[in-house]
Amino acid sequence: MQDWTGPAARELQALERRLMAVFEQFSYEPLRLPMLESVALFKRGVGEATDIVEKEMFLIEPRHEEARDQLALRPEGTASTVRALQQQGLLFNQHQRVYYCGSMFRYERPQKGRYREFYQLGAEAFGYAGPDLDAELIALAAQCWRELGIDGQVRLQLNNIGSAADRRAFGGALVRYLESRAAELDADSQRRLSSNPLRILDSKHEATQSLLLEAPRLEEFVSAASQDRFAQLQELLGDLGIEHEVNERLVRGLDYYNDTVLEWVTDALGAQGTVCAGGRYDSLVEQLGGRATPGAGFAIGLERVLLLCQAQDGALGDAAVDAYLCVVGEAQRAPALALAQALREALPALKLRSHLGGGKLDKQLKRADASGAAIALILGPAEADAQQVQYKPLRGGSAQSLGLEALVQQLREDGYGQR
Ligand code: HAM
Repeated sequence: MQDWTGPAARELQALERRLMAVFEQFSYEPLRLPMLESVALFKRGVGEATDIVEKEMFLIEPRHEEARDQLALRPEGTASTVRALQQQGLLFNQHQRVYYCGSMFRYERPQKGRYREFYQLGAEAFGYAGPDLDAELIALAAQCWRELGIDGQVRLQLNNIGSAADRRAFGGALVRYLESRAAELDADSQRRLSSNPLRILDSKHEATQSLLLEAPRLEEFVSAASQDRFAQLQELLGDLGIEHEVNERLVRGLDYYNDTVLEWVTDALGAQGTVCAGGRYDSLVEQLGGRATPGAGFAIGLERVLLLCQAQDGALGDAAVDAYLCVVGEAQRAPALALAQALREALPALKLRSHLGGGKLDKQLKRADASGAAIALILGPAEADAQQVQYKPLRGGSAQSLGLEALVQQLREDGYGQR
């Protein structure tokens, strides 16, 4: 799990803000969900035989008598979203488009781009069965990449995995084909033959992949209606100018999906190249005890997007401090606090750091410089007597003494007037 401090923390926060603004542009509504949910939710939602549920959840042993359910730190947000909206009566016969941003937890082996606590920004939508929702979700993600200037770095991969029944039929055929040659499969895939045969498709082992070349194909088991829907989605994306590849091997590691599944991938991050993933889950609400309600969504992995922005050059975080107010002399302490308040009221975009604790001006100016501020403002005895403040650019430009009104005007001209 990572600590976020200094510039990295600023960048993560700036990234969240900029992307959430895009979600708001699409009028998705914010959700805040608990970090803990009952393990049963993820077993039923994500699936018993998935890696997430089988081996990656952080479990919390119940300590109190009234706690009947075993709890887990949430490994993902979709099941929780369904649980929450369902419990609040917000799903049946309704339309919902929501988003969430926060930590998820998975006990995986950490490496670059993979952490045990990581941040997701996710969108989920309910009540829309048509492929126009899938297209809107994809357009929303595409807009996020454009906003960050990384649209040239990510590619959209899509697949149609049909219904659960289609996949069972396909799984049966796949197992029959592979069983006769099980000895050639890698150990993980052998295990998955009985637990989750579709996951064999995204095995990284070459021998397994070459066995699969001759295997039955999922597409052959998907209904005509579902294939038609997928074709409609591809057409909508074409109209939007959003390019995609169909990746037949894309099956996703969570069990709730049907029909459309998607991943946005990059080559710039090594093994952990999926920056965003999702799909349709039309049976999930029912599976979790609600009435049948179609749904779809995706989640962005924020650390991976941040790594991609950094690789790109992207200065995501803006300055922590714009102006540093130096306060010279005990007598200036109260007027300085009042000056800072007046400036913050007049200039909503100005990040003003007041010097606290007194001391010599040259020391204060050193602090101002180290803070990264573009401007030092100086309030000392001479300035106080003249009812002025010294305005001193720290990165080039000449100093001047200004009254409050002129100072505000100058800072406005510097671009600190409007957020
Ligand atoms: P997921 O593919 O498990 O899907 O995760 C979505 C994204 O979260 C991944 O593509 C990746 O960018 C990021 N991610 C996952 N695990 C880690 C990790 N250990 N460290 C860093 N980043 C990670 C879901 O979670 C689904 N709930 C997405 C969804 C929403 N489907 C429909 N709606």
